[in-house]
Amino acid sequence: MKEFIISTQIQFFSLDELSAEDRQLVEEARQMTRTSYSPYSHFQVGAALRLADGRLFRGSNQENAAFPTGLCAERTVFFAAQANAPEVAPVAIAIAAYTNGAFTEKPVSPCGSCRQALLEAETRYHQPIRVLLYGTEGVYVIQSMKALLPLDFDGSELA
Ligand code: THU
Repeated sequence: MKEFIISTQIQFFSLDELSAEDRQLVEEARQMTRTSYSPYSHFQVGAALRLADGRLFRGSNQENAAFPTGLCAERTVFFAAQANAPEVAPVAIAIAAYTNGAFTEKPVSPCGSCRQALLEAETRYHQPIRVLLYGTEGVYVIQSMKALLPLDFDGSELA
């Protein structure tokens, strides 16, 4: 038997320790929680995505009475960016969540489907996407989506 360990490095910042650029992205994600349509979960998620050329895209989770029809904030913003700027690599995404009258204390973390979707862009553009996860206790910064989804399915075995 052999064994190996895959580890993930997470940096934990206070808001004022972030660069101005990162702080802006987090602030955009916080603002975008207000545009969430989440009458079923009451969990308002905002996301902001920075492209390599500096452009920002913004999104929030959008729910539906037929629950699986809804979409997370991360894929909402990511797909919008891909559709509008397919030639430009995404380089950073910030996520925030607001529920029960407050932002979450713990940084909110993207679901597996969003990790899968965003990770494919890292492969496609050969550029890591930095991930900024906001909570009132601080901001987790992860240097790539791959770090959040090791042993991913990358489609390389598809015919
Ligand atoms: N949600 C997101 O938008 N992003 C996440 O990272 C976690 C979950 C949404 C999906 C659904 O609208 C609500 O939050 C509750 O799961």
